[in-house]
Amino acid sequence: MNHSTSSLSTAESTLAVEPPSAERLLRQKQQHIWPCVYHFYRRPPVIVRGQGACLYDASGRRLLDLYSGVGVMNAGHSNPQIVAAATEQLARLQHTTTIYLSEPMLALAERLAAVLPEGLTQSFFCASGTEANEAALLLAVLHTGRHEFVVFDRGLHGRTKAAMSATSLDMWRTDPFPLPEFHRMPPPETDGCLQAVEALLRRETVAACLIEPVQGNGGIHPAPESFLPQLQQLCHRYGTLLVLDEVQTGFGRTGRWFASQRFGVVPDVITVAKALGNGLPIAAAATRPELADSYRRPGASTFGGNPISAAAALAVLDYHQQHNLAERADSLGGRLRSLLEHRLAGHPLVRDIRGVGLMLGVELALLDEPPSETPFADLLEDLKDDGYLVGRTGAQRNVLTIMPPLVIEWNDLEAFVDVLTHRLDERLSAAELLPRTA
Ligand SMILES: Cc1ncc(COP(=O)(O)O)c(C=O)c1O
Repeated sequence: MNHSTSSLSTAESTLAVEPPSAERLLRQKQQHIWPCVYHFYRRPPVIVRGQGACLYDASGRRLLDLYSGVGVMNAGHSNPQIVAAATEQLARLQHTTTIYLSEPMLALAERLAAVLPEGLTQSFFCASGTEANEAALLLAVLHTGRHEFVVFDRGLHGRTKAAMSATSLDMWRTDPFPLPEFHRMPPPETDGCLQAVEALLRRETVAACLIEPVQGNGGIHPAPESFLPQLQQLCHRYGTLLVLDEVQTGFGRTGRWFASQRFGVVPDVITVAKALGNGLPIAAAATRPELADSYRRPGASTFGGNPISAAAALAVLDYHQQHNLAERADSLGGRLRSLLEHRLAGHPLVRDIRGVGLMLGVELALLDEPPSETPFADLLEDLKDDGYLVGRTGAQRNVLTIMPPLVIEWNDLEAFVDVLTHRLDERLSAAELLPRTA
């Protein structure tokens, strides 16, 4: 007892009363966090507070959050309605696990069933997108009695053994010994992709096709319009389940509750996470009852659907509904995309502008030869110093990614486009970064 008290009082790691300095935090990080946990920026801001679409650093500086903690904070930072629901639940009942009955998880399951694509009425709750995908893959194995999977180039599905084996994006596929049961198909827009999928499905050994409707970390690539319905037809023909990973696209991001609705498919299993808890850890794999029925052996996740996250998620769904966040994403996203095209299409440093809703990517020309970290990192650093936090995605890490909280105001987006245009023009006129011609 004494020992732990004294070590606590001397440890530098207690949440200090003095404002945290980047130097101290970087030192602590270097000493105590695995080096794989990387961060953006050479001079990273120390974020101490969030509100709506903004984050604030230790000096009180406002930073417009155009990445939402990687697609999580759709209903805005420290949303008072969600904070109230979570804190009230925190004070009343924190945790039971699913071996006891308590209301929040069940109320959430019922509410989710009402907003998910039709028929996906049964959920398995867990704490992260990775686990939701694992649950979906396991269900597919149990249901079909098969053990192979089809996944797509540039996809990202998580960090555990199977989810990482399902991940094609090099940067996130660290395991040198991925499971051999995962067959990687070319990206959906490639000619012949569906034929290649069919050749595999015809063997009737594939339990599931797992795909993101809009590849997020892969560089904001929406599936071509008819791709998912055609993939679904193939899956049905050969007894394979279609699993849509909506971990990043769910909850209004693409201008619909779920991207499935935008693309006109109802998957056999959908996985959701991130924005469901708006910052509290909660995720789910949802499916039809006859599929869920294949998984009757005991299955549990200690924190799956815990009361605090579930209460927060209920408030998230309320907030989305009351404020029509999906519609807001659709209209703001459409306007933003038009403005980006108007200002930047044809710019020598811009190769493509794409995306749906408030999930947009500006692919930049590879900025030097051979490609190096520096030019893009410098651009991100400048934008951060201008007060804008943007994302960075893509197999070549050259896609500037815009996924703000859906509560963001139009004038903030407009101001950002001005700054981005200025920063790109500046680079061009300084001839600092010459696009690769290849
Ligand atoms: C599409 C997709 N699937 C799965 C994951 C993994 O989710 P988590 O980090 O919650 O495990 C991510 C994370 O970025 C993702 O973008």
